[in-house]
Amino acid sequence: MRRRYKMDWGLKNRLSRIIKSDGHTVMLAVDHGYFLGPLSGLEVPAKTITPLIPYADSLMLTRGILRTSIHRDTDIPIVLRVSGGNSIVGKELSNEGITVSVEEAIRLNVSAMALSIYVGGEYEHQTLINLSKLVNEGEKYGIPVLAVTAVGKEMSRGSRYLSLSSRIAAELGAHFVKTYYCEGFEKIVESCPVPIVIAGGKKIPEQDALELAYNAIHRGACGVDMGRNIFQSEHPLAMIQAVRKIVHENASVDEAFELFKSLKRKRM
Ligand code: R5P
Repeated sequence: MRRRYKMDWGLKNRLSRIIKSDGHTVMLAVDHGYFLGPLSGLEVPAKTITPLIPYADSLMLTRGILRTSIHRDTDIPIVLRVSGGNSIVGKELSNEGITVSVEEAIRLNVSAMALSIYVGGEYEHQTLINLSKLVNEGEKYGIPVLAVTAVGKEMSRGSRYLSLSSRIAAELGAHFVKTYYCEGFEKIVESCPVPIVIAGGKKIPEQDALELAYNAIHRGACGVDMGRNIFQSEHPLAMIQAVRKIVHENASVDEAFELFKSLKRKRM
């Protein structure tokens, strides 16, 4: 039987804003620029993100994009990316540090803080200590921590690696974990005592991305934290609604894809 530890009220309350009462969540990941710069679909963040906000349960992004591109009256839980210091052209992707103080996260009224760990990477130790320190701060102020199991440029994304990485994140105190969907995903979920959301990964055809979301949810993920497969779609609004149908309405892939096609026809 899975036991969850009893969280402090504030911490639990913040997490409940992200993971909804049905136990599921559609997080919109738009934090990629912290190491990828102006990637396709996010060249002008506000233009891409604003229309999607009504369909997302939370926004995962950096403080720079939050302050410059999200209206301050927006009522959506923020999952703030607080690790970085690397870039796609740099020598070693795993060389990340904590980039935002917990005071700043509180000032920005965030619902959670997110940080990447690079198990097996050159800077593995540093990123795991980053996570541990962030959890210490998060526990102090009631802010949940999302650990992202980054895979670097060449690292494998097989279930043994992702299960090792997700479990280490939970052992160090992460309150929820973001990892990738893969063959044997249920084993990753089984051995990770905190909720798991999946990243979408590189852009794939919409029907395949919906299948990915479906498989993840049906094998125990509590939700998705999807970016490129939503905002790089030619029809991002249709895509996020189709993803929601799977995550929150228990729809089949066919039902969700039908919704996508009908919204696409309406140019939504
Ligand atoms: C990756 O570094 C970022 O944390 C992204 O937020 C994450 O990979 C999820 O986005 P996507 O669905 O595009 O993989």
